[in-house]
Amino acid sequence: MQQEKLESKVRKLFERQGFQLKSTKNGFRAEKNNSEMVLKVFSSEEYSHDEIPAKVEENNKVFIDPDLSELEELVENDISVLKEEKESQEFETPSYEVIGNIAVINDLAGVDRKKAVEGILHHQNVKTILLKKGGLEGEFRVGNYEKLYGEETETIHTEFGCNYQVDPTKAYFSERFSTERKRVVDQIEDGEKVLVMFAGTGPFSILAAKETDPEKVVAIEKNPEGMNYLEENILINNVEETVEGIEGDVRDVLPELNEKFDRTIMPLPESADGFLELASENTEYNGVIHYYRFLEDDSWEELENEISEKIDNYEIMDKVECGERGPSVKRVCIDIRIR
Ligand SMILES: C[S@@+](CC[C@H](N)C(=O)[O-])C[C@H]1O[C@@H](n2cnc3c(N)ncnc32)[C@H](O)[C@@H]1O
Repeated sequence: MQQEKLESKVRKLFERQGFQLKSTKNGFRAEKNNSEMVLKVFSSEEYSHDEIPAKVEENNKVFIDPDLSELEELVENDISVLKEEKESQEFETPSYEVIGNIAVINDLAGVDRKKAVEGILHHQNVKTILLKKGGLEGEFRVGNYEKLYGEETETIHTEFGCNYQVDPTKAYFSERFSTERKRVVDQIEDGEKVLVMFAGTGPFSILAAKETDPEKVVAIEKNPEGMNYLEENILINNVEETVEGIEGDVRDVLPELNEKFDRTIMPLPESADGFLELASENTEYNGVIHYYRFLEDDSWEELENEISEKIDNYEIMDKVECGERGPSVKRVCIDIRIR
């Protein structure tokens, strides 16, 4: 098999399990939830038997094609043979994310429902498989889901050592942005006051409290179901000393709080523009706003104009792409320092 084809099969296999992949000389570095693996890919077209190491190092996985399959016996594990036709026909799987022990398919992408379920169950030990129907809805950004397998929709998801009790059918949660959450949280300095304006079930707030040493984290969430999970998650992660959850609309809660924060996180890309003025009023001079938006056709200028219309003195520190909503729509974060 061609090297390119084999690498593409390995990439698909790991990406649909939520790994972030970076290309290396003969494969990938795969990262998920703080753990890393080295994936080495050796195709029979590019490599001969003696070029393949006789022992696979710990945390490495080796993938070969059927023409090199006798190496399975010779090389000390872990080595996998990727069979082109059989694998793709028997286990055709659409892309999906795994939240705790629930798999969520965003789009079947033409794959038959039954085959999708078989494929996911072959790769993952999940108790429920949900299919998202349409986009996220309403102010609470909750999707509509069809159950393709299993019944239970509540689960415990673990990420960077934090446990989150979530139910994606009741309150927004996505595993896909874990790396982005970590990027933001890693910037928090000791003693900061942090505001999470659209807190959901708590993945920014709880990670901030567990990984860093802020003075406090205020987490505001309007969806009562989201707030129930947030309160529960504050308790199960033992961060009640640091995180204060407040149920309500940020437009009502923040004027009442009348407080300024060193860092304001705005994870509501759909409509964060409507809250940017409020965020800047509640952020200290020299403080930072993490402003999430959807970027269409790479028109950064439009988003930058949006900011200049709402804030007088600021500096853009960083512009980061952190996901996709469609073929030409990216989820982005602009880190803004208030001046
Ligand atoms: C895209 S979700 C992000 C949730 C969470 N930060 C996360 O990353 O999982 C946005 C959240 O903002 C909440 N929300 C929307 N409008 C709000 C408002 N005006 N005030 C407070 N929360 C709001 C929604 O209910 C939803 O849970």
